[in-house]
Amino acid sequence: MDMRRRSFLAAGAAGAAGAAGAATLLSGAGTAEAATKAPSRGPAGFLAEDAPLRELAAKIGLRIGSAIIPQDIDTPTWNAIAASQFDVYTPGNEMKWQVVEPEQGVFDWSGADNLVNFADANHALVRGHTLCWHNQLPNWLLAAVAAGDYTQTQLLDLLQQHIFTEVGRFRGRIWQWDVCNEFFLDANPSGIDPNNWWIVNAGPEVIPLAFRWAHEADPQALLFYNDYNIGGEDGTNAKSDAVYAYATQLLDDGIPINGIGNQGHLDTQYGWSPQLLRQDLERYVSLGLKVAITEADVRTFVNNATAQVPTDNLALFAHPFEYTEMLKAVLAVPEAISFTVWGFTDSDSWVPGTFAGEGYAAIYDVNQNPKQAYYSLQSELAVAAHGAPHRVQTYTPPITRPIS
Ligand code: G3I
Repeated sequence: MDMRRRSFLAAGAAGAAGAAGAATLLSGAGTAEAATKAPSRGPAGFLAEDAPLRELAAKIGLRIGSAIIPQDIDTPTWNAIAASQFDVYTPGNEMKWQVVEPEQGVFDWSGADNLVNFADANHALVRGHTLCWHNQLPNWLLAAVAAGDYTQTQLLDLLQQHIFTEVGRFRGRIWQWDVCNEFFLDANPSGIDPNNWWIVNAGPEVIPLAFRWAHEADPQALLFYNDYNIGGEDGTNAKSDAVYAYATQLLDDGIPINGIGNQGHLDTQYGWSPQLLRQDLERYVSLGLKVAITEADVRTFVNNATAQVPTDNLALFAHPFEYTEMLKAVLAVPEAISFTVWGFTDSDSWVPGTFAGEGYAAIYDVNQNPKQAYYSLQSELAVAAHGAPHRVQTYTPPITRPIS
């Protein structure tokens, strides 16, 4: 094994691949001096190790995003990463119904407003997330429905009010809304989950109605259906088939849906097909829809939830590979308009709290140092933005006559 690779593995295993080390990997030079010296090759501007992700992606009209939580805005070092690297922000929690209306009729827009203002200040856009989901609903709503206080029609009225209030408040300031989130079964065959809280209590019309109401409240916003395991994760592709069929139906019925969000929560222990992801994206696009990767992360087994050092060195290769392959599928599909990671640092990742023994899912480590996945994404974006660098000029022997 080559020494550079080995020293990278050691740095990665320590959870602290530094900028100089990764720049060395990119430039292929072996010394610290070479790593800091700007390479002279290639078209002007091809300095992959210096350019922020958003800057490279902007050259091809792609937006690079992250889920943002209040700590990302309030902590100076985190704020600097959020501001410099990403140009579309998704509130991790701050636009969910539970947060914006904790008591019926009592609204708290502080987190959502803060995020939208942070986006404006950084010339970034916002993915609104999410209007109609079975999770993170306010307790007052869950309790009232459980008590049988609302008819189906009254519940739909409440959702309409929620959508009008929230989408109306941010009208003109949201690029994409995740209107409906995670309605489909992880099963073969898949389909809309009949036990989904909204389907049980409001009926299947809730999905088309939510799209109609969101469109009414902000006709300019791009309206997305968002889900996981619909981009190459499921070997049978059953869930993607079901979402594709359902989106076809919505469009046939004239429902204002503009895009499909593939969340992209991957786990190195499971199979996953980048080719299938691309085919799935192309299939949604064939309907006339936009697509986006909306919540990318790649989890793996780690020593503990604090340090999040992978327990298997192969994960150090699988992790950047799966991120890069997701991005490459996006790069191959021009209608893929954004690539968003679900939080940029392992420090605030949802993974350790949800999957026992797993972590290392983000592109920055627990100390906010960029990992190899960051540099791999940066490198792919640089190539996409500028084309591969030209070869260095060499002496070419003139062959003028045959050798006799
Ligand atoms: O705000 C309370 C805090 O007051 C309390 O002390 C603390 C105690 O547990 O909980 C805090 O709420 C937590 C909230 O995140 C904010 O940190 C909830 O417990 C926790 O369940 C919630 O988790 C969120 C999760 O959705 C809920 O399902 C994650 O942050 C959020 O990243 C995650 O995001 C989802 C997407 O919206 C949809 N796709 C999957 C993705 C990952 O689960």
